[in-house]
Formats: sequence, C-alpha cells, structure tokens
Amino acid sequence: MNILLIGNGGRENALAWKIFNSPSFRNNNGKLYNTTGNPGINQFAEPVEIKEYDLKSLITFALKAKIDFTVVGPEIPLSKGIVNKFEREGLKIFGPAREAALIESSKSFAKNLMLQANIPTARFKTFSKNNIKEAEQHLKRIDYPAVIKADGLAAGKGVVIAKDFKVAWETVNDFCFNGRCGDSGINFIIEDFMEGEEVSVFVITDGEDYKVLPYSQDYKKIYDGDMGKNTGGMGSIAPLKKFMNIVLEEKIKSRIIEPVLKALMQMNRKFKGCLYCGLMIVNNEPFVVEFNCRFGDPETQAVLPLIESDFLELLLASSENQIKNYNLEINNDYACCVVMASGGYPDNYDREKEITGFENINRYSLVFHSGTRVSEGKILSYGGRVLSVVGISQTSLIEAVKNAYESISKISFAGKYFRKDIGYRQFISNSKEELAN
Ligand code: GLY
Repeated sequence: MNILLIGNGGRENALAWKIFNSPSFRNNNGKLYNTTGNPGINQFAEPVEIKEYDLKSLITFALKAKIDFTVVGPEIPLSKGIVNKFEREGLKIFGPAREAALIESSKSFAKNLMLQANIPTARFKTFSKNNIKEAEQHLKRIDYPAVIKADGLAAGKGVVIAKDFKVAWETVNDFCFNGRCGDSGINFIIEDFMEGEEVSVFVITDGEDYKVLPYSQDYKKIYDGDMGKNTGGMGSIAPLKKFMNIVLEEKIKSRIIEPVLKALMQMNRKFKGCLYCGLMIVNNEPFVVEFNCRFGDPETQAVLPLIESDFLELLLASSENQIKNYNLEINNDYACCVVMASGGYPDNYDREKEITGFENINRYSLVFHSGTRVSEGKILSYGGRVLSVVGISQTSLIEAVKNAYESISKISFAGKYFRKDIGYRQFISNSKEELAN
C-alpha cells in the first residue's frame, strides 16, 4: 500500500513513525511518501518536493505514484478542500472535507454550532471590522480577562487573553487594521475567559461512530509555570490521570462529542478524520475552548506511543466508514513530550545551528523532528520548534518525564531552549526542580 503523508513538522514525524510501524503497512510492501520531508521523517518516508497547499500538484503526484491512501497532518490543506478534491479523483484520504473543516477555519461558525447544539462553551459575541464601534462598546462593558479570537486560521497568532480594556482594544485594532492575522482577523469574537484544566481530546471518527484516543495536555506558554507568550506548544503529556474520571469522560462524550458529530451530520457537513476537542475542565464540567480538524501538535507526539492496535488501520477505518468495526487497543504506558526550541522563539529566533548528541539518548525516548534540515551531512535547526523529545515509561508519568529530560540533556545546539516543568500540572504538589532532575 502506497501512502502519502502531508505536512512536515513534529506531529507528522510521529504520524510517519506510527504508520511505518503499523503491521498493515509493514506486511504490504508499500512505500510511504511525505511532503516535504525532514531528517526525522526521512527515516520512514521518501520526501516529495511539493508544498502542502499545492493541491493540484499533490493530485498529479498521487495519481502518478499510485498512492492508495493519503493522510493529512496540517489544517491549511484541509481548509482548502484537499479531501473534496482527492475524493473527486477517486483517491482515498484521511481527514474532513472542507465544509466540515470549517469547524477550525471559522471560529464564529464553530461557536454558533455549539450554541445551536447546546454544547458547553464560553459566552461569546461576534464582531467584524465593519462594526468595530459596537465591539468597543462591548469591550467597555465586560469583565476581564477576556479572550479575543480571530475568526480564521492564524497559525497561533489569533488568540489573545486581554487583561484589561486597553489590551483588548489594541488587539481588536491589530486584527482589523494592522493585519496581525491577515484576512483571518477581519472578523473576530470576544468571549469570556475560562479558568481550569486544559485537556486535548482526539476523536477519530467516520462521522457516525468514533474512538477516543488517550486524553492529553498541552503546555502552550513559553516559560515554566505557564508564563509568557503563547507558542505552538512547548510540551505535552498523556494519558491524563489526575482530574480525569469516568463521570467526566461520560460528560465529554454525551455533551460534546456526540452532539457535535450529530449537528455536523445534520448540516450536511459530516466530519471524518481526527476531531480535536480543546477543552477546559471547570469543577469537573467540560467546556469547549476550540475544535480543530486535525491532530494537535505536540500532543500527537505523546499520544501515538500509547496506541497498541494497528494505527494505519484506524486511519483507514475512518476513511472507509468502518470505525465501529475497529478495535482500539491502548497500552499502559505514559509519555511526556518536551519541545526543544531555538533561542528567541516564539519571537525572532536563531537557526542553522548544528544539532549533536542524538546517538546518546536513552532507550526509553523517541526524538521527532519539528524544524530541522540536513546540510553537508549535519543536522541543523531550522524552525522555532526544533525537536520533540518524548520520554516513555511503563510504570509512571514521573518516569516518562525523567526519561525525556535525561535525553534532552544529551542533545546540544547553540541557544537551545526548553521548558523544565512539562507535566507539572499532574504533580502540582511536587516541586518543579524534582521533575527536571
Ligand atoms: N496543540 C495545539 C494545536 O495543535 O493546535
């Protein structure tokens, strides 16, 4: 079976590793291709020099290389309708069609859907550049902190937690007049701030039936203790044991997952693929912060090592409407992913620094490449997020955390930066120094 994996970050490195090691792939003498590769992904896949948003060239390649199945990592090709276009050509693909991917590409669509389907979420109002005066009046009336979100895709720049009116008003002006998120910020929403525990839920679905992967937690802020600017994600852990329980899991299914799938189906927007539910748990009650139409990064790097059953068959079952016949098996392991970033990230950062020490990591760790490239036989840093180092343990999360940090200590590049406290929310009574040692 020939497979094309689209996207080339840490998430896709984890996807490539997991697909490559699926018995259904290994037993089939197929080939895995990836756009556009990186030194981690290239261990499993042949790189193809086509941009992930160049849908025309991707279709031409898929037909020529006799691709049997395509797996889409990032949201941009999904929001551009890659699934619709591939399926029109008779090509099998994992992911939602454009009309269902709207759940991520328009925040106001997602919020209105939640309102209609009675799905718990923060109170909100939608505004645009054309009624900015009304937004100003609204901002003068509300409590702070408040959340300002660009309506469209904004690569992590579209959400601001405003501590007061001044910050909120500056943000709205940045969105509408200073092009902070391009066209994505011309429409925006203002919503209540929620405080609690964040949980990421990956739901693999064929639109009707679904399987929930192990719950995970993303550490989005740049500094320890969840301080500083938001990033693409500085680390993640899975599974979540603390504060998750059967009652809460039932509420997540009956109040969020099932109503959203049903509502999308009724609107003729059947969702297939991975529905990412970003939740806030407040006093054992789940609220939706956001829906995404794809796997999350860096949660994928911590979640996939916990899947025991054939991963490629899971993705195929979604595409072939066979989720109810798929037997999802999860192992008892724990995983902690720590992102090694370039100094300066998420603002201007250094790049082209040589990375060494991969051969010295411990055998309980995996290294996925997020932003690296090869030059003259050397591996160089290339992006803001450079590597995702995942520690695994069969006994405890704390062991998984230690395994990740031990491996990180062996990997060097000039200006390397990483958080020292990934996982701390699960050990809130433990000292952070203990975790990093
Ligand atoms: N981890 C957040 C995201 O993938 O959007």
